[in-house]
Amino acid sequence: MNVAAYEITKSEFKELSEFVYKEVGIHLAEHKIMLVRSRLSKRLRELNLRSFKEYLAYLNEDGSGEETIMLINEISTNVTSFFREQSQWDFLEQEVKVFEAAKKRTLRIYSAACSSGQEPYTIAMFLLSTLKNPQDWDIKILATDISENILLKAMEGCYSAQDIGALPKSMLLKFFDKKNIMTKQGNELFYEIKPFVKSMITFRSFNLVYGNYSKIPQSFDMIFCRNVMIYFDKETKEGVVKNLSSKILKGGYFFIGHSESLVTMKDGVLKLEKPSIYKKQ
Ligand SMILES: C[S@@+](CC[C@H](N)C(=O)[O-])C[C@H]1O[C@@H](n2cnc3c(N)ncnc32)[C@H](O)[C@@H]1O
Repeated sequence: MNVAAYEITKSEFKELSEFVYKEVGIHLAEHKIMLVRSRLSKRLRELNLRSFKEYLAYLNEDGSGEETIMLINEISTNVTSFFREQSQWDFLEQEVKVFEAAKKRTLRIYSAACSSGQEPYTIAMFLLSTLKNPQDWDIKILATDISENILLKAMEGCYSAQDIGALPKSMLLKFFDKKNIMTKQGNELFYEIKPFVKSMITFRSFNLVYGNYSKIPQSFDMIFCRNVMIYFDKETKEGVVKNLSSKILKGGYFFIGHSESLVTMKDGVLKLEKPSIYKKQ
């Protein structure tokens, strides 16, 4: 059913943008007005509100912060996939040999803005398939996102055939359990990540812009912060990169999305190793 979207004035959009920027550091460009209007109209209807004016009042009065999360769930894109940015996995395949040559047998990895989990599960499956003796390694992956809804999906780790895409059959057999689930389309086959892979990952909610970084405990060998900084303006991005890079061990790596860049970062802490891969100095 195609239901009409609510009207939004320029000043209401401006107020909404300011709210989003203040709360989560996401910059909503003016040309996003139609997109925001259509995505949020559904939410207004659910809340039985009559206008964006009423929605803004509701947002400002909501002391719990729950509506802010609902708002972020609607406006941010959670698009992700297994083995996204193939060249980074090719790079890491070589790097694994360097890890293996060193004595240490621990790896700490952070997937910041992990969305529905494909990124941290890819990291786990990649290491389990690439390390010669993965059982000898102590591997822990921290995965965070701002959206509680998407984190629930990530923790569930249950994916449709479409989500699975072209993952090789050997990986499906090794790392997933098949599951039949009744959906609106009928009985559908899903793939659930096996418990031993899930157990390598700790999922937490964390706001990369306003979160308390002292709660991110370890020093990481690698941080993946991909396809999230596109939403941030220069100042916000600098703050996030500074906080995250302080959490990477010397010689560790920082991965960003292919369409992103850190060209404005001049403090020299992160050196460009390959496109979208930085090394901590
Ligand atoms: C496009 S997905 C990227 C997922 C994954 N990193 C990848 O590259 O496939 C962006 C994610 O960033 C999250 N996000 C947006 N703003 C955030 C913030 N301020 N702090 C933490 N996560 C945020 C969204 O909820 C969404 O799940």
